[in-house]
Amino acid sequence: MQNKNYISSYIAGTGKCVPEKIISNSYFESYLETSDQWITERTGIKERRWTDDNVGITELAQIASEQAIQRSNLEVSAIDGIIFGTVTPDFHLPSAACILQTKLGITRGFAFDVTAACAGFIYSLALADMYIARGVAKNVLVVGGDLVSYLANQQDRNTCVLFGDGVGAVVVRACEKDAEQAGNFKLVDLKSTPGIYASELCADGREADILKIPYGSANRLTPELVAAGGHFVQMDGKAVFKFAVKALVEVTQTICAQVGLKISEIDHFVSHQANQRILQLVGEQLGLDKSKIPMNIEKYGNTSAGTVPVLLDEELEAGRIKRGDLVLFSAIGSGMVWGAVLVRI
Ligand code: ACO
Repeated sequence: MQNKNYISSYIAGTGKCVPEKIISNSYFESYLETSDQWITERTGIKERRWTDDNVGITELAQIASEQAIQRSNLEVSAIDGIIFGTVTPDFHLPSAACILQTKLGITRGFAFDVTAACAGFIYSLALADMYIARGVAKNVLVVGGDLVSYLANQQDRNTCVLFGDGVGAVVVRACEKDAEQAGNFKLVDLKSTPGIYASELCADGREADILKIPYGSANRLTPELVAAGGHFVQMDGKAVFKFAVKALVEVTQTICAQVGLKISEIDHFVSHQANQRILQLVGEQLGLDKSKIPMNIEKYGNTSAGTVPVLLDEELEAGRIKRGDLVLFSAIGSGMVWGAVLVRI
């Protein structure tokens, strides 16, 4: 059993921001053929948060980011780059990362968005670790979040009840240099040292049709397309459900094998909050203790790239995840894309 490995970075601080406006299940009962009971039993969602129409994602991201930077004991000037996992930027162009950079008062380094839907935070976190491992950055701000309320057709009961708005952020920092260093990698004991141990990113474009918003350069926005709801999320819920369970189970097994850790050694599984039943099935198939699978889907619904960092921040704040714990982040989204990052906090 190998206990030693090389790492380059660790999570130094976290932050989050969710809108104040709460939309409970009863809101949908007021105009759709649905019920609090159906939504709760099929998804685990009781309420979600929505932004007002004139609020863009960088407004929430700024709050989450400032919190994460401050909790990392850093000045904003120390941030070398921003990676923002989102599919709901303020505008088509420029990127949300560039707008956020200016809002934070940062005038140097790189800034870009990552389009990986609900897996946007996982992809961005893995990329930040790779940038640091390559030696091109020391402090990377990673943001994940979406205002999914704006992508959902509020007349479609199959989708609109599922989604909410929220953003989380973390600062990923390079490990301190020491004697046991090989380039930008540091030799560590996986049983104790905080750090990002491994990441696994996956994609299967053959499944693109099961979850999509079908307009863009290949299908231009026309009045007819808008009338048909082509600018909103379209989903084959059952197909996404099945794909998600299989993919999340497999990626968990793969990443543990990669670093030589047993699944039972992981303290917390901070996974994408799409459906309580998906999480329960993944837990059953991996033989996980239920207490290791935190959930907050009942409060926020599916905030896409926001679910994992928001949940992480809440669990840390509540003291349920503590420094030193081994945490597996995993998520899956439109593409299909999915992935996992294994971190000792
Ligand atoms: N209220 C009442 N009835 C509803 C509602 C609703 N809000 N939505 C669907 N129904 C109806 C359907 O129309 C269907 O009726 P029918 O039998 O007369 O045709 C019936 O409920 C059963 O529908 P199913 O699709 O079989 O319901 P299911 O148990 O699969 O649950 C759900 C649907 C919740 C969407 C589930 O499939 C799911 O969570 N899938 C995963 C998709 C997901 O999470 N997507 C989010 C984005 S992607 C991501 O984050 C991974």
